[in-house]
Amino acid sequence: MLAACLAAAGCDSILPENAPPLAAHEVSQPDGWADELAMAVPQDLNPDPHVLEIELEAKVANLEIAPGKTTAVWTYNGTLPGPMIRAKVGDRVIVHFKNSLPEATTIHWHGLRVSNEMDGAPSVTQPPIESGGEFRYELDLRDAGTYWYHPHTDSSAQVGRGLYGALIVDDPADPPEFGDDLVLLLSDMGLDEDGQLIPADSGGNFGDLFGREGSVLLVNGKVFPTLKVRNGKQQRWRVINATRARYYNIRLRNHRFMKLGGDNGLAARSEDIYNLIVTPGERADAVFTPADPPGTKNVLRWVPTERGYGSTYNRASEPMLAIETIADAPVTPEPIPAELRTIEPIDITNAKHRTLDLTISIASTVEMGVNGVPYWQAKPFEIALGDTEVWRIVNNTDFSHPFHLHGYFFQVLDENRVPEWKDTVNVPTKSELTIAVRFDERPGAWMYHCHILDHAEAGMMGHIVVRDPNAPEATPAPAAHHH
Ligand code: C2O
Ligand code: CU
Repeated sequence: MLAACLAAAGCDSILPENAPPLAAHEVSQPDGWADELAMAVPQDLNPDPHVLEIELEAKVANLEIAPGKTTAVWTYNGTLPGPMIRAKVGDRVIVHFKNSLPEATTIHWHGLRVSNEMDGAPSVTQPPIESGGEFRYELDLRDAGTYWYHPHTDSSAQVGRGLYGALIVDDPADPPEFGDDLVLLLSDMGLDEDGQLIPADSGGNFGDLFGREGSVLLVNGKVFPTLKVRNGKQQRWRVINATRARYYNIRLRNHRFMKLGGDNGLAARSEDIYNLIVTPGERADAVFTPADPPGTKNVLRWVPTERGYGSTYNRASEPMLAIETIADAPVTPEPIPAELRTIEPIDITNAKHRTLDLTISIASTVEMGVNGVPYWQAKPFEIALGDTEVWRIVNNTDFSHPFHLHGYFFQVLDENRVPEWKDTVNVPTKSELTIAVRFDERPGAWMYHCHILDHAEAGMMGHIVVRDPNAPEATPAPAAHHH
């Protein structure tokens, strides 16, 4: 009787109550579990298994974002999000990029340790790619982790119109207990009642100051999609915040998450958390263990997070993703390792110290800056190749700022945090934190900025120049003469 039952699909749901549950690794995710969350996959033009060579074209496309309405959004290859670029650590990615947008753009590969001329910072590492122009990006994938790509020209407007995509670097050595991989690229879009994009500068000065949050929440480009899960069968979520300004605090009733790390892959230890917080530009990597009774529904919610003046006032939580637990019997989850990775603290004994004060001045316009200077007036910080620096990042403003550095991972000097390598860190309003960075390779000009993109464009941005003192000629100053 039992044997006959095992042969029939789905019959484990009618096993007697006292049958021992299966282990999570003995079952698969439900059929079509993540179909509604599928992202486009680019075509690989290169036969070498270690090279992913793709075409990427930025162009306007008419897509259905809000149900029943057509929106002219800005896309990579006509999809939103852009195609998910995914390869293994050690691989190389070649991107033949074409700009078919009505204005100039560049692509920045957020978090990747690329060579300087591939970093996509306009007029700093490359001239802007004009409308109709092309550029070949070559990226060596040196670090496993969850990354993303987006424009760095008029970035708040261009990202707000839909230009972003996931870039995942897999480590084949990751333990299977982390569960089946699911990338969740979170974005929001400002749409009017007719489903048209509201102007990129909506709200004027106030929009610059607060940062423009879109009215429609998207998960992998969809409004409130459904994910199917089975009780006990783990999933590894790689969450990317690709919004211009919105902070995410993600909660699921009756659930906790086991955080594995974020920006640069695994942290030193796993961490049991209730609120999955991901600020603009940041990533979070976490195991989700479904625990709802079979045959029930739940809702993953965006919950208001304090990020400064008025950010939580009179705001309700919003649904992001429907979680449908299938009727099959629960399975026993696999234990998640406590220790994940060795992260040696950066040696700061001979470090140079610097203070970066994030500043906002409000006069007839809103002007933001670092140490009181907006990026269009800022002189770069000069750093000698090989130096270690400690940056005290001070935020006396009324808003929180997610601080991002290009080109190098840093460590936050705070014993209360699980050690990890980061490229973006939230500096809460009226607080400060300290990071350590080793400028040990890849001389050149690298940007740093607030990843509330409206703040960056309002001036809270600058760049460093890492120079090799032994190089025959100094690294050229930022120029529009590349190539
Ligand atoms: Cu994702 Cu300079 O940014
Ligand atoms: Cu900011």
